[in-house]
Amino acid sequence: MAKPGGPAVLRVDEVPDPEPASGEVVIDVAATAVNFPDLMQRRGLYPAPPGASPYLGLECSGRISVLGDSVAGWQLGDEVCALLAGGGYAERVAVPVGQLMPVPHGLSVVEAAAVPETACTVWSMVFAAHAGRLQPGERFLVHGGTGGIGCMAIQLAAGRGAQVFATAGTEAKLHRCRELGAEVAINYREEDFAERIAAETDGEGVDVILDNIGASYLSRNIGSLAIGGRLVVLGLQGGRKGELDLGTTLAKRLTVHAAGLRARPLPQKAAIVAETQQQVWPLIESGTVRPVVDRVLTLDDAVEAHRLVESSEHIGKVLMRVAG
Ligand SMILES: NC(=O)c1ccc[n+]([C@@H]2O[C@H](COP(=O)([O-])OP(=O)(O)OC[C@H]3O[C@@H](n4cnc5c(N)ncnc54)[C@H](OP(=O)(O)O)[C@@H]3O)[C@@H](O)[C@H]2O)c1
Repeated sequence: MAKPGGPAVLRVDEVPDPEPASGEVVIDVAATAVNFPDLMQRRGLYPAPPGASPYLGLECSGRISVLGDSVAGWQLGDEVCALLAGGGYAERVAVPVGQLMPVPHGLSVVEAAAVPETACTVWSMVFAAHAGRLQPGERFLVHGGTGGIGCMAIQLAAGRGAQVFATAGTEAKLHRCRELGAEVAINYREEDFAERIAAETDGEGVDVILDNIGASYLSRNIGSLAIGGRLVVLGLQGGRKGELDLGTTLAKRLTVHAAGLRARPLPQKAAIVAETQQQVWPLIESGTVRPVVDRVLTLDDAVEAHRLVESSEHIGKVLMRVAG
């Protein structure tokens, strides 16, 4: 993209091949995926962190084609997927080995492009000890249950024994939330999710909320949490500044946690990637968690892919195939 703007600013262009730094490999990209933060970056609202590729793309899958200095444990030709700070919308990308994961058994190399960003984000926000700490048997609410993040969050939480509640905006999406493992799916356009949560939980509330909306849901999210509950904010689609009722937060002993993955230092990202592979890969390989792929386009269709995600017609992930 030469300048920020709507989907039409995206175009395919020739740029120099990436060179791997020490501790990095180059991946010949098989596929990449559209994430909501890509739309924000395209609009000029979410710049790449210092040192990251200026090109879009927070995840990819493919095969290792170049090994940088000091790389151990990976071979040329290995099929991998990777969490990226940028640069995934490309034929080649350089990535630190700490952000690499093997393609999970049972997935094609293209399908694997749907996994890194959502798995690492959901694991680190919902389950990790420093964030949501969701436990089996607890109640979990995820907003936007059929987005890329939402589909992963429902499956992982249900797969690990939580009782899952999800919000979505159409009947078809509510149906999909239930298929993925949500016990209760709430149409946020037609009813107040906070009233429904109170009714479904005998007024007790839920233990963890994963929220992509931010300001406009803040007071209802706080009101929907049980004693000791954790609100985990990962997106600000409903605004960034809201009023937090500290009285309720104090009385219910709540935690409000907001965080992003992309700008974290490499050691933190590598720890999240390693924990995600250890905890989530077995669930993918056993079939408990499957990537939900709305459709597979090509990199030449990037404008259409962004229009699709922007209009929120999709369920799950929109992938873009690069090679083959
Ligand atoms: N912090 C991080 O590191 C990180 C990483 C990745 C993504 N994110 C954030 O996570 C969020 C989801 O990303 P994504 O890639 O999964 O995007 P996505 O696929 O576009 O999903 C967004 C979902 O939000 C739903 N939605 C919109 N308004 C809503 C509302 N008022 N109430 C409930 N649901 C609503 C949309 O569907 P319907 O309205 O049609 O139901 C859509 O399913 C974004 O805010 C993104 O910025 C954060």
